[in-house]
Amino acid sequence: MIVNATRMLKAAKAGHYAVGHFNTNNLEWTKAILLTAQKMNSPVIIATSMGAGKYMGGYKVVAAMVRAMDESLGITVPVALHLDHGNYDAAKACVEAGYTSIMFDGSALPFEENVAKTKELVNLAHDHGMSMEAEVGSIGGTEDGITADGEVADPEECKRIADLGIDFLAAGIGNIHGIYPANWKGLHFDVLEKINKVTGGIPLVLHGGTGIPDDQITHAIHDGISKINVNTDCQLVFAAATIKYCAEGKADPTSANLDKGYDPRKLLKPGYEAICAKVEEKIKLFGSAGKANY
Ligand code: 13P
Repeated sequence: MIVNATRMLKAAKAGHYAVGHFNTNNLEWTKAILLTAQKMNSPVIIATSMGAGKYMGGYKVVAAMVRAMDESLGITVPVALHLDHGNYDAAKACVEAGYTSIMFDGSALPFEENVAKTKELVNLAHDHGMSMEAEVGSIGGTEDGITADGEVADPEECKRIADLGIDFLAAGIGNIHGIYPANWKGLHFDVLEKINKVTGGIPLVLHGGTGIPDDQITHAIHDGISKINVNTDCQLVFAAATIKYCAEGKADPTSANLDKGYDPRKLLKPGYEAICAKVEEKIKLFGSAGKANY
């Protein structure tokens, strides 16, 4: 069931759990996320970065695929289709394309410009029945060629953006996209507590969900995080499973010609199953299993 993410995240905040946001890259990824959420009876957010949207042929292709797959597979759990780290133009394009949720990431802009553009886009999103995420204080690491410096958000700026009527807020608290360096100092829970206090109960979003120790994830949910973004973890397990399959010679036409292990449906299956297992693990950790009826 395709919905926006507003009610599912309000319920998560009230129920002290988090909904997983999983980035998708293709059909296999999408199917793995949808079927695993259904199996776990969990709400879920499927997201594309701008780069993944372009890779898949455009936002309209993504929206058509996710909506059709949701219907054809008989998915009954709530599924939001979300733009991850969109710029102004991408956010507008996803409103037209049939997404149900957008993130406008104005964190690299001068703060007043972030405020003005967020305000304009939240009105547009709500006019279309969509949910809207905004960001204060960029998230560290590199995603789709965009590098941020791991800034920690200013709680007063968070309050200004939250007061614009957005539905959920991403605020940097020392989190990083991709693999965390060995000398990473961990999440800044003191800052998270302040942000949670001044933003009036709005669901908060933790980006960079890959590689954060489980106890810090649980602590962050306790302190007001209601949406956790995971991308790299699924990429890593997909790559490892595919590499193993190939290293075992299963895709080699000369040794595996009897069962055609090079058939893409066979070649991509171990990676698909690895994503299913990773999404299931995260849904259990985040506490959203069994929460489809909020
Ligand atoms: P990871 O790639 O570190 O899991 O982060 C995902 C993310 O925050 C997407 O916005």
